Amino acid sequence: MSLDAQILTALRAAGEGSVSGAELSQQLGVSRAAVWARIEDLRSLGYEIEASPHLGYRFLSAPDVLHADDLLSRLGRTQVIGRDIQVFESTTSTNDVVEKLARDGVKEGVVVFAESQTRGRGRLGRKWTSPAGKGLWFSVLLRPGLRPQALTQVTVASATALRRAIESLTGLKPEIKWPNDILVGGKKAAGILTELSAELDRVKYAILGIGVDVNLTVGDFPADLRRIATSLKAEAGRALPRAELAVLILQELDADYARVLGGGFAEVADEWEAHCTTIGRQLSIRTGDRLVQGRAESLSEDGALLLRTEHGHLERIVAGDVSFEK
Ligand code: BTN
Repeated sequence: MSLDAQILTALRAAGEGSVSGAELSQQLGVSRAAVWARIEDLRSLGYEIEASPHLGYRFLSAPDVLHADDLLSRLGRTQVIGRDIQVFESTTSTNDVVEKLARDGVKEGVVVFAESQTRGRGRLGRKWTSPAGKGLWFSVLLRPGLRPQALTQVTVASATALRRAIESLTGLKPEIKWPNDILVGGKKAAGILTELSAELDRVKYAILGIGVDVNLTVGDFPADLRRIATSLKAEAGRALPRAELAVLILQELDADYARVLGGGFAEVADEWEAHCTTIGRQLSIRTGDRLVQGRAESLSEDGALLLRTEHGHLERIVAGDVSFEK
């Protein structure tokens, strides 16, 4: 952990209390002057840290910016996800950055955030609007050692994790639309784009790209999406702390990734089904140039949607665009 992250961790651990410069310097093995210099730097980034000659330093608040050291400090210890965090001011797509890291052989668990993306992409080749400082646009590198067909389990698990994190921060009741859109108040507030590189029987790496519309206002969405998209701020009626949400999401993702790899997908699938608006509904699904219609029955063991067609066949759908018929 960097010195900044260690300082933030120590100050947060003290809660409302203060930590003296001498304690910090001893705990971190650097001079008091070095501690002071780092605190000044954090202040210049917008952290409010009170300094009193007698009591020492006290953490007051963090700015609404994503700062890798701060995210690491809040995240604490996780099994895989968030071992390393990088934040870019702007990038084409965080999935592109992670793909490069993957090709360079970087270990799984690294997370790349961007304050804005110039070429954010969604599922099915769609554009993903990613305005600066208003949402969470990030990608996670995974090397799950699964068969390519089983990767849907990881995507399903990501949706359950994302849903839980949003609910716990906002108190809203998000729902999941297959395969992994997060809806709030019936409109989409977050989505997941999984990209993978695989051999015949093994995933080499998977990139989990997550976009959460946190503090966007109506005007931030392209006109054609305003009817179907929303933000957490619009639904909750208040701006939400992005860094706090980011950390909650990473913690929940870490937990659900471990559940899947530990053979606990059935449990994840139950949770997913309990919050899914798709199961039980009459649907049309466009997959490639085919249109399949039927009633969504359940998830299969590997995370595909099982659809009962009007002829009574059970179709296994692994990807597609869902519209509800009634
Ligand atoms: C979808 O619902 O269509 C998926 C949207 C995924 C958007 C995220 S934002 C971070 C990552 N980088 C991208 O270019 N896309 C994903």
